[in-house]
Amino acid sequence: MAMNGQQPTAKPAPAAPAPPAPQERAAVRGPLLYEGKAKKAWQTDDPELLIMEFKDDATAFDGQKRAQISQKGRLNAAISAHFFRLLGARGIPSHFIGQISEREHLVRRVQIVPVEVVVRNVAAGSISRRLGLPEGRELPFPIVEFYYKDDALHDPLINDDHAVALGAATRAELVQLREQALAVNGILRPYLSGLGVILVDFKLEFGRSRGEILLSDEITPDTCRFWDVQTHDHLDKDRFRRDLGGVTEAYEEIWRRLQAAPAAV
Ligand SMILES: Nc1ncnc2c1ncn2[C@@H]1O[C@H](COP(=O)(O)OP(=O)(O)O)[C@@H](O)[C@H]1O
Ligand SMILES: [Mg+2]
Repeated sequence: MAMNGQQPTAKPAPAAPAPPAPQERAAVRGPLLYEGKAKKAWQTDDPELLIMEFKDDATAFDGQKRAQISQKGRLNAAISAHFFRLLGARGIPSHFIGQISEREHLVRRVQIVPVEVVVRNVAAGSISRRLGLPEGRELPFPIVEFYYKDDALHDPLINDDHAVALGAATRAELVQLREQALAVNGILRPYLSGLGVILVDFKLEFGRSRGEILLSDEITPDTCRFWDVQTHDHLDKDRFRRDLGGVTEAYEEIWRRLQAAPAAV
């Protein structure tokens, strides 16, 4: 009731609402575009946007070993969103638009460059086997490797000439992949170090969208090696590959530490 005896004035007409940001618009799931080993990609009503659903399925050794890992989809969706937000805040362009449910990301649809980019800080896994470097040996500088993303060929290690000859990427794109991957390492390695986690190595995928190269896919304990700095305990998919047990607990531990360190700066 108006205290001065006057009628309350009508509220001004609300300004026309700004068009919703993509993450605020309810994304409508369309047909399933692609089901991979760890995620499903759904089309949406916008041809430029996809919904990525993180599954509990785990595979290793080229799909020979398979299992369901309880909570993995939910944890990976949360962990990957956290890393994409952190990287976005530090100027790394990516496909990530937002997390729209417990296990779904809204992402920009890209044409995936069929070159997987691996960055290694510490020897582990295939580099230890191939080059005889003891697991755990710190490398003198971050090593970048390219793998041809082709399931039938079992994702072979390739060099720049191979990638260009195969038509997988141009020379200019390879330069960008390398620079972006090293930039990601330069952000994630010290960030994780502050959480007591050694970033041993990781795999990235990139895609083309509107003439730009965007970091895509996921950054999770499925695609990274994370070791506890004190114990060197594996907090990643090696627990599944090597039957170490405690897979869900390890992913939960990574998520717990990330939540203690905000992604935005
Ligand atoms: N933004 C994107 N647009 C289109 N495809 C994407 C995008 N991000 C990731 N992908 C592709 O979607 C698939 C994700 O499913 P995943 O289960 O990880 O597949 P895979 O079995 O190949 O590892 C991968 O092939 C990945 O390259
Ligand atoms: Mg994958």
